[in-house]
Amino acid sequence: VRLHFRGVNEVYIDGELVPESLARVSVFDHGFVTGDGVFETVLVREGKPFALQRHLDRLARSASGLGLTLPAVGELEQAVAAVAGNGPRAGRARLRITVTAGTAPLGSGRGSGPASVVVAVAPLTDAPPAAAVAVVPWSRNENSALAGLKTTSYAENVIALEWASARGASEAIFGNTVGNLCEGTGSNVFVVIGGALLTPPLSSGLLAGVTRDLVLELVAAAEKDVPLETFARGEVEEAFLTSTTRGVQAISSIGGTELRGAPGPLTGVARGALSDLMSSTDVP
Ligand SMILES: Cc1ncc(COP(=O)(O)O)c(C=O)c1O
Repeated sequence: VRLHFRGVNEVYIDGELVPESLARVSVFDHGFVTGDGVFETVLVREGKPFALQRHLDRLARSASGLGLTLPAVGELEQAVAAVAGNGPRAGRARLRITVTAGTAPLGSGRGSGPASVVVAVAPLTDAPPAAAVAVVPWSRNENSALAGLKTTSYAENVIALEWASARGASEAIFGNTVGNLCEGTGSNVFVVIGGALLTPPLSSGLLAGVTRDLVLELVAAAEKDVPLETFARGEVEEAFLTSTTRGVQAISSIGGTELRGAPGPLTGVARGALSDLMSSTDVP
């Protein structure tokens, strides 16, 4: 591919860099029609993507789970470098890689054409240090065909986030079908119970967050099922969210019940460890 620099706000689409206003996907695209696609959101700081290899590895896992063929890694890397480099030079940005099944007839069946590949960047403001969260009345299905895959079928997350915002929360938390803590709409959750830092295991149906993995590598934490009831019973001493855009973010209240002293000491340790890592490297 040839990627010519033409200025800011350029989007990579199917092999070309074009101005945002000309970046168009077909109305027959199966990603648009059914949500048949995979994506990644990568943090970009001063034009440089953070932990890109981990995101590309997860994109490959998601694509394989959906049976989609990705473009060659070199093409994706080149597209990311071009779009990240053309985006906001100062501060933070979010870069999104989206790959869908391409055009198809207007039903659930796939077409035979090539995938649609889009890489786009948008500015990103700093996340506040703490967030109020709400536990939604719907469950993550740990037995779903999509469990653990980062697909563009995100309407469940959209509804959950709307539900949480209407209750003054900035993230919605899902339990799974057996009543254990799972994850947020776009984040993973860590809790401190009895002084131990815990996070739900992959088997709970969550998406294996890049930030979750980094925190597990940086601080002492165990992957363990946590019944949602522990929140209502007041057993959770501290809690925090992890995500590409939030980093480590303390949870200040759950369903309107304050977690006193947020951010707690273990949250502070995790937050400090991630921020030290991020200031020392782009490629953990
Ligand atoms: C459902 C879901 N869980 C967890 C995460 C956190 O993952 P990461 O740390 O890779 O951003 C995300 C994405 O951002 C997500 O969409």
